[in-house]
Amino acid sequence: MGIDKSSFMPLYYQIANNLRRDIKKGKYQPNTALPSEYQLMAQYGVSRGTVRDAIKMLLAEGLVTRQRGRGSFVTSPKIEQSLLKLLSFTELMQSQGKTPSAKVIVSKVLHSPSDDTEKSKMAEVAHALRLSLQERILFIERLRLGDEEPLVIERSYFPASMLEALLEYDIEHESIYTIMENELDIKLGHAEQSIEAKVSDNIESEILQISPGSPMLLIKRLAYAVAGEPVEYAEDLYRADRLKLRISTKRSLPHSRESDSESLHMIKPDLQG
Ligand code: GLP
Repeated sequence: MGIDKSSFMPLYYQIANNLRRDIKKGKYQPNTALPSEYQLMAQYGVSRGTVRDAIKMLLAEGLVTRQRGRGSFVTSPKIEQSLLKLLSFTELMQSQGKTPSAKVIVSKVLHSPSDDTEKSKMAEVAHALRLSLQERILFIERLRLGDEEPLVIERSYFPASMLEALLEYDIEHESIYTIMENELDIKLGHAEQSIEAKVSDNIESEILQISPGSPMLLIKRLAYAVAGEPVEYAEDLYRADRLKLRISTKRSLPHSRESDSESLHMIKPDLQG
């Protein structure tokens, strides 16, 4: 579709609308290049600045990314996760038709902290998992990929007394939640979760293959077994450009019992900090 040069709508805006529609229709497939700036200039009879402004809109919407010297590429649709379901990464990927995989970065039992930062982290985790400071904590850090694309760094802490056996399994190829439920007889019941924004540091950027300072979603999860005891405290760092969280909410009166209990639920001390 062309553009209307007599319209009150800016030209860059019309071009962005056309490109957006073509991406949504599948004319330009994920991971393929958009026409070059010169091609778009010729196609619409506009200046380079106008084409660039149109592309900038699509970049801001996350529909395309720029690759230096190669042009603009269509991004794949974001992974959508419902906040109402307690899913493992494996189940989340399967729900999106993607193949999950993992690379273990660290897997060890934490005994005595090596410095103050580790000490305060262990104290925070012990508090969340309702452990004493003397109890051992199993720490597993994995990079998780979907169809080979790095998506999230998972940092999970488990009570070692309950889950040290995880170290005997192939957690690069097997789902931890499946091992817990099918092999170790720990059935997961519910979880408290919180979501914050964070930018990636140099190490996280290298692992996730993104530029330093990229936006990420930090999702903290405290998962409980059906019997009620906490079994996992996790801090997951998702690439914000690849994940979309969904939740449906119900309107309730400001001071109803239900809304009070829900807001209390949100500030449970276990997930603060
Ligand atoms: C999600 C959760 C993590 C959990 C992981 C288990 O990513 N946020 O807390 O450790 O799933 O995934 P899997 O069972 O695929 O190993």
